[in-house]
Order: sequence, then C-alpha cells, then structure tokens
Amino acid sequence: MKVPDFDFVVLGSGIAGLTFALQSAAHSRVLVLCKATLSETNTAYAQGGVAAVLDPNDTFEQHVQDTLEAGAGLCREMAVRFMVQEAPAAIRWLQGMAVGFDKDGSGDMALGLEGGHSHHRIVHVKDHTGRSIQQALEEAVRRHPNISVQEHQMGIELLTDTSDTGTFCYGVQVLDLHTNEVRSIQAQAVVLATGGAGQVYQYTTNPGIATGDGLAMAARAGAEIRNMEFFQFHPTALYQPNGEVFLISEALRGAGAELVLPDGSHFMHLYHSMASLAPRDIVARAVLTEMQRHNSPCLYLDVRHLPAGKVRQGFPSIYHKCATIGIDVEKHLIPIVPAAHYQCGGVKADLRGRTSIDRLYAIGEVACTGVHGANRLASNSLLEGVVFARSAAEHVTDIVANQEGAIPDSTEEKEYVGALWLGMRAEVARSRAKLQKLLWEQAGIVRSVKGLLRCQSEIEALQRKAKGIRELTGIQQEVLELQNLITVAGLITDAALLRRENVGGHFVKENLSELCAV
Ligand code: FAD
Ligand code: SIN
Repeated sequence: MKVPDFDFVVLGSGIAGLTFALQSAAHSRVLVLCKATLSETNTAYAQGGVAAVLDPNDTFEQHVQDTLEAGAGLCREMAVRFMVQEAPAAIRWLQGMAVGFDKDGSGDMALGLEGGHSHHRIVHVKDHTGRSIQQALEEAVRRHPNISVQEHQMGIELLTDTSDTGTFCYGVQVLDLHTNEVRSIQAQAVVLATGGAGQVYQYTTNPGIATGDGLAMAARAGAEIRNMEFFQFHPTALYQPNGEVFLISEALRGAGAELVLPDGSHFMHLYHSMASLAPRDIVARAVLTEMQRHNSPCLYLDVRHLPAGKVRQGFPSIYHKCATIGIDVEKHLIPIVPAAHYQCGGVKADLRGRTSIDRLYAIGEVACTGVHGANRLASNSLLEGVVFARSAAEHVTDIVANQEGAIPDSTEEKEYVGALWLGMRAEVARSRAKLQKLLWEQAGIVRSVKGLLRCQSEIEALQRKAKGIRELTGIQQEVLELQNLITVAGLITDAALLRRENVGGHFVKENLSELCAV
C-alpha cells in the first residue's frame, strides 16, 4: 500500500465539482480534472436560476410538494426534504462566493417563477445565471492554494480494487488531451461530477462535453445506476432550421410568455391546469403532439403582450440570440421545439454523495440521489449540485482524518494510444450521429416498445463496431465518447423497456393520435 497523489480527485468543473473542491480543500489536497476548459460545462449554459425558499410567504413544504408532484410520485422524499431545507444556506454560500443574484426594487432577492412551482422562488442573474455561478466558482478555485486544476484531461476508467468489505475506488485513469498520454492518478477518494449525457440525443440543449462519461465509467466499474428511463426534454429550445439548439428559458414563461400554435392560439390549458407553466414532461409532450397534429416543424412562444423592454432587460441573452436570426421578440413569435435537456437518473448516491462503490462519490447531474424522481422540477438541478456537493465535502473529511484511503500498488495495463486518421474519424462521427438519431426517434419524448427493441439491437451493433474501431485506433477522445454514449443509450433503452407504466419523462405510446388534447 502506498500514499496517494491527492486526497481527492474531482472529475468535472461544473457547479457540483467546483463546490465540492472549494468546500473540501481547507484540510485536503484536491485535484480538479476536466476534459475541456474549466468553463465548458452544462452549468455555464444554465439560464433560469436556482430554486430556494427565500420569500417569507413561501414554505419548505410547498417546495417539497412541488418537487414531489413534478417527480410524479417517484422522488425519494427524504432526499427532497434535505435538499429543500439546505437550499437557503446553499444560496447564501453562493453569494459568499461572489455570485451577484439579481435584487428587486427593495433590495431583496428577485424571485422568478418557472414550470411546476406554486410560488416565485427562482434566484437568478438575468438569463445567464449559470455563467455567473461558473465564473465566480472558477475564480475562487483558481485562487485556492490547496486546489490544483488540470484542463483537457479526460477520465477513461475508474481504478478499483476489492477488499473484505467490497469494491473500492482509488483513482482514475486519464487521457491527457494535450500530449495524448494515458496516466493513472490516485487519490483517497474519487468524486464524479461529470454532468449529464444530453449528447446521446440528436437535439439537445447540452454542450458537446455532455457525453455521459462518468456514468459509463461508473457502470463499467459495477456501481449501481438508477432511473435512466427518465430523460427530461425541455419544451422550448429555439427552432433553427440548421438544427442548432439554443434554450429559451422557462423563466420567460414564468414572466408571462405563452405557448401558442402556428395560428397564435393558446392550447396548454387543454393539457394541464397550470397551462404554459405545467411540469416540463407534460409541456414537452403537448408541444410534440401539437406539432404533429398541425404538421408543423415548430410551435411558438408569444411575448408580444409583455411590457416593452421587459424581455430585453430581463432576458438579454435570449433577446440578442433571437435578434441575430432576425426575430424581434416584441413583434414576432419565437419558434420553439423540444430538445433533450437533463438526465434525471444516474449513479445511485446517498445524501452524502456516496455510491455503491466505497470511496467513489457522485454529485450533480451524474448522480441519482432521488430528488428528481421521474421528472425534475425546474431549477432544482443547480440546487442539487451545490447542496449535495457541500454535503459530500463535509463527509469526505472523515476519510482524510482517518487515513482510510490507502491505495494498492497499481499494476494496471496501459492501452495503446494511437492516432485517429481522417477516414476513421468520419466513421466515428457517423456512428455518433446514427446513435443520436436512433435515440431521438425511438427513445425520445414518446416511445414505443417496438422502437425500444429496435434501439436495443442497433445499440448492440454500434457497440461491436465501436469496439472494433478502438482495437484499431487505441485510445482516442472521440472513440471513448462514442463508447460512453453507446453505454448510456443502452442504459436508457433497457430501463425504458423494464418500466411498465407511463410516468414522468417515460411515455410509451404505440398510437400517437391518442395523445391529443381532450
Ligand atoms: P456540468 O456543469 O455539466 O459539468 C460537467 C463537467 O464534467 C465538465 O467540467 C466536463 O468537462 C467534465 N467531464 C465530463 N466528462 C469528463 C471526463 N471523461 N473526464 C474529465 N472531465 C469530464 N438547471 C437549473 O437548476 N437551473 C437552470 O436554470 C438550468 N438551465 C439550464 C440550461 C441549459 C442550456 C442546460 C444545458 C442545463 C440547464 N440546467 C439548469 C441544468 C444544469 O445546468 C445542469 O444539470 C448542471 O449544471 C450540471 O452540473 P454538474 O456540475 O453536475 O455538471
Ligand atoms: C430554463 O431556464 O428553462 C432551464 C431551467 C432548468 O433546467 O431547470
């Protein structure tokens, strides 16, 4: 047994990874690894904000009930209560990290509204909340003497071993994307904060980094994975004929935007009493149904009735993005379509971020703590990231204090790192696009048993192909990502076939016409 390089190695630089690093570094040596730059995270793209009970007229119980309702009865109530109660402290901590949340005219926190919430409770920084959080945490991390940051380092596999008490994790095998070298980094504990896997679908709000690497690594190491059938689709991504996806925040609907049909008429009241602000799974299915019913490539958001300047001032990123494609939101309808947005399932983790593998933690979107059930409530994700990262950091200090994290002498084999020549790169890209289209069409917002079975067999074929490519090319980022996406696709499809009832984000319907509004 030898002494590890770091106390903790954190894979991921979004809200979860950076919060964990900052909270655990007072008495530990922490290494943060990320496969792109520190700033390229899902977190940085978050728009709407963070949910927390801060208004004296709001209650924890209401936030809990809204979360349980959106989760369609499948949340772990204990975890929900924990997250909701910790939310105000988490917001104060973010403010302490210099996140400048918007204030109202009287100097109190400005609280927005989003789908499924019975009260205004979303703290935000205009419509670029995530970017502001990311920047503030990054600055704090870069200043911290006990935190090392290494960018462009891609985790490949977890290093695990077994003892009398079961499997434990002692590090991670990493591909250095600058030098193309593979190395092993050892630590007393490994923290997965690798975010989600939106890239498994053809249309997604998620950036390119969201390829489910951490989830796939954990699955290969034998960690328990939960709820993968519940992938959340956001109902309002800006429709652009070139297929590029840009989110139009739900907070815009909270500020009065209405979903409308191509003829400008309202329809959401036919689907839910909360109309345009119903839980996300219901709105996404309704939008898809009405697109098909009207044979239209998109539906629309209408903000023309809002006071002049309200969108420009409150939602500057959305206002300017629309303007760049010729849409003046004060005069025109905004074309929208649904897009894959959030992985509700993930690596099973408890309130402290502990997984089924000793000394492996999972926090943020990669984890399944049970707070989202079958469908996440809007703005509960950044909240989950910060709350559970803080909780995990509090717990891991025991590992360092007790020196529990001794590691075995590593003997793992090094795999060949080759070059991906042009033809092979195109082949990998084709396989990735094929997988994304398959999942979008067969395991998306509305599924069929036949389609899911087709997915299973095509996934198997893609898996064999990717394995063959890897044998030829050795370790390469694109090939690793393809293999991870295939693993995630398999987990989604298998879980969807096992789930018998339609609930939350999982909806199987052979005949789409039955979905139409009543
Ligand atoms: P991320 O922020 O996704 O960070 C993942 C990190 O893992 C990155 O640093 C990446 O490089 C690293 N990584 C991945 N794989 C590897 C690997 N193999 N090796 C090394 N590093 C790796 N939620 C809300 O609550 N409110 C919102 O308003 C909101 N708006 C959103 C808007 C958009 C457009 C999107 C896409 C999401 C939004 N969400 C929102 C969801 C929320 O942003 C994410 O769930 C959350 O930011 C995830 O944080 P994270 O720390 O778990 O992971
Ligand atoms: C949004 O701003 O619509 C996204 C909010 C979320 O994903 O929670």
